Amino acid sequence: MYSEKFQKSLAAVEAARDKNVALEPVRMTAQQKTDLLAAYHPDYRQDQFDELKIGPNKGDKVPKELATILQAHSRICADCVDLKNPDYDVDVLVIGGGGAGSSAAIEAHEAGANVMIVTKLRIGDANTMMAEGGIQAADKPNDSPAIHFVDAFGGGHFAAKRELLQKLVCDAPEAIQWLSSLGVEFDKAEDGTMITTHGGGTSRKRMHAAKDYSGAEIMRTLRDEVINRGIPVVDFTAAIELILDNNGNAAGAVLMNMETKELMVAKAKTVIIATGGAGRMHYQGFPTSNHYGATADGLVLGYRAGAKLLYAETLQYHPTGAAYPEQIFGALVTEKVRSLGAKLVNVNGEVFMHPLETRDVTAASIIRECSDRNNGVETDDGLAVWLDTPMIEKIGGEGTIEKRIPAMMRMFGQFGIDIRKEPILVYPTLHYQNGGLDITPDGMTTNIKNLFVAGEAVGGIHGKNRLMGNSLLDIIVFGRIAGKSAGKTFKDVTVGELTLDHIAKFEKEIKDAGIETDVVSPKLLPDYTRKVNG
Ligand code: FUM
Repeated sequence: MYSEKFQKSLAAVEAARDKNVALEPVRMTAQQKTDLLAAYHPDYRQDQFDELKIGPNKGDKVPKELATILQAHSRICADCVDLKNPDYDVDVLVIGGGGAGSSAAIEAHEAGANVMIVTKLRIGDANTMMAEGGIQAADKPNDSPAIHFVDAFGGGHFAAKRELLQKLVCDAPEAIQWLSSLGVEFDKAEDGTMITTHGGGTSRKRMHAAKDYSGAEIMRTLRDEVINRGIPVVDFTAAIELILDNNGNAAGAVLMNMETKELMVAKAKTVIIATGGAGRMHYQGFPTSNHYGATADGLVLGYRAGAKLLYAETLQYHPTGAAYPEQIFGALVTEKVRSLGAKLVNVNGEVFMHPLETRDVTAASIIRECSDRNNGVETDDGLAVWLDTPMIEKIGGEGTIEKRIPAMMRMFGQFGIDIRKEPILVYPTLHYQNGGLDITPDGMTTNIKNLFVAGEAVGGIHGKNRLMGNSLLDIIVFGRIAGKSAGKTFKDVTVGELTLDHIAKFEKEIKDAGIETDVVSPKLLPDYTRKVNG
């Protein structure tokens, strides 16, 4: 239900719909994309980045908000923790209860490890649960992992670590089979073959989905598997500092009960960081599609202990965050809406770009339309463009929306907007952290032994921009790899004396660099307290 002020623009969108459905928007040239990104993508706003003064990535630029928490104090004093009497002693400690952590735990358990998951919220409170559009895998006769590689490598600006991307695409078909075997119900045609669609930047239809709640379906299944296997899950318990041993290897974590603030020690032969993304850092003031706990914790834990980051300066702004109504401001409007045929249209009802360019290009294009070109639709919260959802039914036939994207229909339906009949307003929303901890193909960090990373906390798999559906894929592929590797590695590990010496070392670096801060990290939860009187 749109108020009076939108009616003129809505009428223009409606009047142009038939013409726009038939339109074949041209793709941008490589040069046009480069120029567009440099001028409009948030990653290129130099004033929004700070140079790191300390740590393994000293000299690199990262978003200001990230620099603040990377160069902050520990939440604990090392002497206040009794490392001699651990509360837990396990082979594999998994930090994070999303899709990557759960996949890792399942595989480590399968390998015979005594594995435990700790999570600051509950298992499944994660970006995985909120993923909508699908998971890529080249498993159709007209496709191959090599073509998948080329799409993703180009989409990521040729910056992906080749050996990681190769693993991602080559292990993808098996990842789909694994998920199916665990019970994930992917959408299938009547003959039993998987229904697949395009995503932005894909040259083949390889997006497998469970309607538009693919992540929830995958997380449901993984959570059941973790529970059925009897893998212990310690809920509402955050890892707030890694523990190393006197050889400098990962050897556990200091845990904090989120309610009582009680500290505990988990000793482990191997540690897997699977803490997810950073949307709740609200870089550059953007809203986010992420779950409540997405505060870059894994990057902080790893960095303070000495692990290297890769591409921490690159973020993904999903082009289509809900821009109206305000109750769902920033929520994800899946790219699948565009895969099914909806086009992006400006205030005058004009299609201004191809709807399936890569995400960074699409986001930048929307920002340009709403800024310099002055073609945005004004809402109470800013500017936006239309995503003309009724086109989907014109292309796919009546009932397509209800069948393929029922969650979208419900989300907007709650506010009186019937997306089968009316377009929706969208604007970029902070969605994904392209960068993260640097790993080798077996999932171990490049410079701390026995410390593994999986999922969104990893950097380098996708380069500097990720294609749709490659994140649900990477949490499975690299979650499983980390779990299998840790499940093998722990057998040869003898943990030395536990230490938290890295805290004092990092404190000294802060002092020597002249950094004055009273911030402690990891942040753990966003702070939405209303500030009164400024
Ligand atoms: O648009 C989406 O459904 C998001 C998918 C992704 O980030 O991979």
